[in-house]
Amino acid sequence: MSKANGLAITEQAPETEGRTIRSWARYYDLVSNIISLGRGKAIHRAIVKAAKPAAGESVLDVGCGTGTLALMLEEKVGDAGRVEGIDASPEMIAEAHKKVDRRASHSRFKVALVEQISFEDDEFDLVVSSFMFHHLPKHLKRDGLAEIRRVLKPDGRLLLVDFARDSGSLIGHLLSVFGGHSHGNDSTELISMIEDAGFAEVRRLKSRRPEAAIVASGSKA
Ligand SMILES: C[S@@+](CC[C@H](N)C(=O)[O-])C[C@H]1O[C@@H](n2cnc3c(N)ncnc32)[C@H](O)[C@@H]1O
Repeated sequence: MSKANGLAITEQAPETEGRTIRSWARYYDLVSNIISLGRGKAIHRAIVKAAKPAAGESVLDVGCGTGTLALMLEEKVGDAGRVEGIDASPEMIAEAHKKVDRRASHSRFKVALVEQISFEDDEFDLVVSSFMFHHLPKHLKRDGLAEIRRVLKPDGRLLLVDFARDSGSLIGHLLSVFGGHSHGNDSTELISMIEDAGFAEVRRLKSRRPEAAIVASGSKA
């Protein structure tokens, strides 16, 4: 057991080539709010709106970080719904657990990898992923998308939001390339990867935030 952020971290960090956020997990919410010029909450709210979660649905947030988005989704799916969040970083999951304790939330968070999602086939109506794919090298993006498709119900849907180096926005380019895995994201390439993974009707949604260029949604084909 290690101690970080004053919390006992009981879970081991699984091995991944994805770039995880560990030593500064405690400051993640603050840092991301500064980088987004105070729009952190508003961005997550816009993602919830685009994801269209319905009451009673089961939702999985992959690369959930400190759980902000998952907890907002819980408000929409309600008590009859189910929200799970996974992240490769035990320290990020510990931050999410702190929020759960503060709010008496019924969302559940655990350490797990997008390339090896520890849920059964066809469990979720909706999978969301925000600002995580740029942390992954190409082959893990493919593996992760296959896993997401596996855990989605036959009519399940995916909403993926991330930075892209081809966004036409300097901040999007910098965050994509330096904020995560050195290859970053190319939006056109990622959208074809989503299609290759077996999603139908994949479309790029309009975003008022140019740095979040990949806002793609699709349903399991
Ligand atoms: C920039 S943060 C985004 C967190 C959150 N989704 C948000 O919108 O604030 C990216 C997260 O992806 C996680 N991550 C990196 N590689 C991963 C992997 N292979 N599987 C699951 N999570 C991973 C990191 O630990 C980090 O918490």
